[in-house]
Amino acid sequence: MAVLVVGGAGYIGSHAAHVLRRKGYDVIIYDNLCTGHKELAEGFELIVGDIADTAKIAKVLTRCDSVMHFAAHAYVGESVQNPKKYFHNNVTAALTLLDTVMESRVRKFIFSSTCAVYGNPVKVPITESNPRQPVNPYGATKLAFENALEAYGRAYALRFVSFRYFNAAGADESGKIGESHDPETHLIPLIFQAAQGKRAALDIFGDDYPTADGTCIRDYIHVTDLAEAHVAGLEYLAKGESAAMNLGTGEGCSVKDVVAAVERISGSKVPTHIAERRMGDPPELVADPSLAEKLLKWKAKRSLDEIISTAWKWAQKRTS
Ligand code: UFG
Repeated sequence: MAVLVVGGAGYIGSHAAHVLRRKGYDVIIYDNLCTGHKELAEGFELIVGDIADTAKIAKVLTRCDSVMHFAAHAYVGESVQNPKKYFHNNVTAALTLLDTVMESRVRKFIFSSTCAVYGNPVKVPITESNPRQPVNPYGATKLAFENALEAYGRAYALRFVSFRYFNAAGADESGKIGESHDPETHLIPLIFQAAQGKRAALDIFGDDYPTADGTCIRDYIHVTDLAEAHVAGLEYLAKGESAAMNLGTGEGCSVKDVVAAVERISGSKVPTHIAERRMGDPPELVADPSLAEKLLKWKAKRSLDEIISTAWKWAQKRTS
């Protein structure tokens, strides 16, 4: 029986598919290729379809014993401009997927949630007991689906894990897959563009935050560490357990720290420009990852330098 990786042609989903295969799991990728890339699913069975296509999903589920759901829209800014798109895909269509799963024999479900469910945290590092009060529609859609999983888990014996990702970054060591968004809004790929002369400078969104160097602090976690947590999540589900947990490193890095690391690793100067704060950016988001470490016997192993060196290798390959 296979693991159905829904959204497996996307950034995090494709890394999960690769790690699953390395650990000996059979994998089927299901993706509508709306933001995913066919190349990221190369070498895997790829079924092109939408999460709301009940018949197509039901058919493939007969060959699966678990589902990982990565397929979602994930731009915070766009979710503010166009909440309808976010609620339709990340909630309505995702619930159709979940109901199709419930009509099959599959009862193991792993969901890509986000630290955006916490909104502005009351305390950093953030534990899972921090109130879930999202401050944008993207976070609200992820919270809605987390709530559905909890209720389905109680009522219908579904086993689930909701993984609240902090800042996913980096690329697979093979150099074959990595991050590719259009438009790109994430810090590390944008720093690379500035280093490669593809943009005049990196805009640093605010240097007057109450942090040591005035720039925002985030918890950057290597995408392969995230992927490995998903495999550990499957083993956890096999024990009959369910939970929601943070996936982060527990270490915070400022925007300036990341720029300095890119300069050191790439050997290129990164021109920067101090810009206005970006609306809705909390000064500091750092995970307390101890629950995942305890429940999954998993720990993020890769450093910021490994994040940047793998991502840099991928960025250079794509432009060579
Ligand atoms: N930043 C800049 N300049 C840029 C881009 C980003 O200074 O050009 C800063 C941001 O202000 C932020 C940090 O770099 O402090 C990281 O920004 P990203 O856009 O890379 O990531 P976010 O922390 O905003 O977003 C991540 C995930 C989202 C999730 C969100 C939760 O990508 O999916 O965390 O807050 F919703």
